[in-house]
Amino acid sequence: MDKDETHHMADRAFIQSLPKAELHLHIEGTLEPELMLALAERNGVALPYDSVEALRAAYDFGNLQDFLDLYYQGMGVLQGEQDFYDLTWAYLERAAAQNVRHAEIFFDPQGHTGRGVAFASVVDGIHRALSDAEARLGMTSRLILCFLRHLDEDSALATLAQALPYKDRIAGIGLDSSELGHPPEKFARAFARSRAEGFRVVAHAGEEGPADYVRGALDALQVERIDHGVRCLEDPDLVERLVAARVPLTVCPLSNLRLCVVEDMAGHPLRRMMELGLFVTVNSDDPAYFGGYVNENYAAVQDALGLGRDDLAALARNSFEASFLDAEAKRALVAEVDAVVGG
Ligand code: ADE
Ligand code: ZN
Repeated sequence: MDKDETHHMADRAFIQSLPKAELHLHIEGTLEPELMLALAERNGVALPYDSVEALRAAYDFGNLQDFLDLYYQGMGVLQGEQDFYDLTWAYLERAAAQNVRHAEIFFDPQGHTGRGVAFASVVDGIHRALSDAEARLGMTSRLILCFLRHLDEDSALATLAQALPYKDRIAGIGLDSSELGHPPEKFARAFARSRAEGFRVVAHAGEEGPADYVRGALDALQVERIDHGVRCLEDPDLVERLVAARVPLTVCPLSNLRLCVVEDMAGHPLRRMMELGLFVTVNSDDPAYFGGYVNENYAAVQDALGLGRDDLAALARNSFEASFLDAEAKRALVAEVDAVVGG
């Protein structure tokens, strides 16, 4: 083995050894082709693909909408509580194996209730897996319900009403799906009501949409975290505001590459964002579709952007500090990152 290869392996081991939080992860985006086919069979759902290879070959996206079309089709195999349990448990086992200690997980109830699946089946299945992960894997979590922004605000408000009896299980509200043409302002009332009900609030903004959508998420929705946010760089005043207010951005490098938000990984702005003082974290978004879980995302930016161990450790610390954990839990986990770096 040559010296470069030895370094490469040591770098991978370092990323593996870092305790991490994942803050931008769509549970439906963790549906691996193998499980999709198994659930299609279990539930008698017809899919236009009959093999793992055919599914993976279809994962060649020109933009966000190309991906979303397959994502919504794929989630059609999820029907009962056990399906949501199996999906979530499979993710949690993989995440724990990558030393993810805490996960804040998005789910898209309108993608399920819209095809006749009960809201309770979705939340109960996901929540049962999260409880098992806390007991068996020592992993903590929060659940974030996302409104689909291509649907109207009345549908979001109806979904919020369904969530109210589950407040003890749902920590936050988010906003996802097709960004362009669906600015944050469209959901101002639904977010005001969500905040009034005591939910934490976040939103996807500045992924494909312009910097103005990031500003809209801050002003009209009053979110405390921005999902993606990479296009904030097109507006220096906005960058200054995000830095000053220490607004976390949950960046997803492999997603950005696979959805053509960036042309190649060497052109990814993560390093520049760190240098500007933005509060960035690295996450996997929809790992079953984008070619990697959280460690592969760390590795991709390390390789392409030449990030050092201090940078990677800073990203891991940020992941806990930007989370919804309480101050004491954050301190303990950041201390674990420090111990890895120091040791
Ligand atoms: N739904 C799942 N992944 C998404 C993404 N990256 N952007 C918007 N909506 C999504
Ligand atoms: Zn996302």
